[in-house]
Amino acid sequence: MSIKPTLWISRKLPTAVVERAAKSFEVLQFEDDVPRSSETVIEMSGKAEGFLACNSEKFTADVVLQLDPRLKIIANYSVGYDHCDVPALTAHGITVTNTPEVLSEATAETAMLLLLGAARRAVEGDKLVRTGQWDSWSPSFMVGKQVSGARLGIVGMGRIGQVMARMARGFGMEIHYYNRSRLSPEKEQGAIYHSSVEDLLPTADFLSLHCPATAETTNLMSSERFALMPDGSVLVNTARGAVVDEQALMTALDSGKLAAAGLDVFQVEPGGNSKLAAYDNVFMLPHIGSATFETRNAMGFRALDNLEAFFSGKEPGDKVT
Ligand code: DGY
Repeated sequence: MSIKPTLWISRKLPTAVVERAAKSFEVLQFEDDVPRSSETVIEMSGKAEGFLACNSEKFTADVVLQLDPRLKIIANYSVGYDHCDVPALTAHGITVTNTPEVLSEATAETAMLLLLGAARRAVEGDKLVRTGQWDSWSPSFMVGKQVSGARLGIVGMGRIGQVMARMARGFGMEIHYYNRSRLSPEKEQGAIYHSSVEDLLPTADFLSLHCPATAETTNLMSSERFALMPDGSVLVNTARGAVVDEQALMTALDSGKLAAAGLDVFQVEPGGNSKLAAYDNVFMLPHIGSATFETRNAMGFRALDNLEAFFSGKEPGDKVT
């Protein structure tokens, strides 16, 4: 790379990532750190050959049509790329990449945190102590759902799902899963395969979602599907808000079909769902599945690997189609 290509970094990234980027690219960055509007995205496409972008920037078909031909690659700082209309970008001659693998551990840790917190009533307990309302103890006080020995259903047994299974096995859970294709015995590690979500759900004392948001998975967890779960089960979602019908979730919580839920993602982000926030048995986090120092660096380095490969004339390792 003799002349450095120009790279727009849309958000504030870790210092080590920006320092490495500056070695290979002319870096453009704004002082502030806010989601970028479509107008800004379109304007910046005339100023850079590459974007290192986040899921806060939306590349809809309409935006893609207005992108300047100077832009050649969008290296996403995320594993999910549902904010990108990939067919439209590809048709426009723009390569799209993501950051798989590097965030699997951190995201599965978040799913495990939500699972445990929802099972053991973390929100209620924290509130009681924090507000000074903890004034008694009794054998029936704050009794939750035991995790060890319970069955965990996983929808989407990709990299994150497999790490979640490994962690849950450490808690003595029995793993069941649905995936579009069955894993090899080495990857299954004894997990029980179900050939449909409908077949999986009756086994799921706990259900953890690890599938991407696509047209097929929108509202995957619907009233009909919640009805198939055991009474008093627990839902965990660290995938995308779009895969859960939030009204159906609240109905399932109201009826006791679900005892609790742990959610890191919501249909509307940022902000979440104020109706869901009224439920003390819903443990919520603000989409921080991959938010550890180590992982945020690794995501940036992975995006730079993709950018550097692309501008050296090679196929980026994480090109999405
Ligand atoms: C991801 O990498 O997809 C995370 O959800 C952050 O967008």
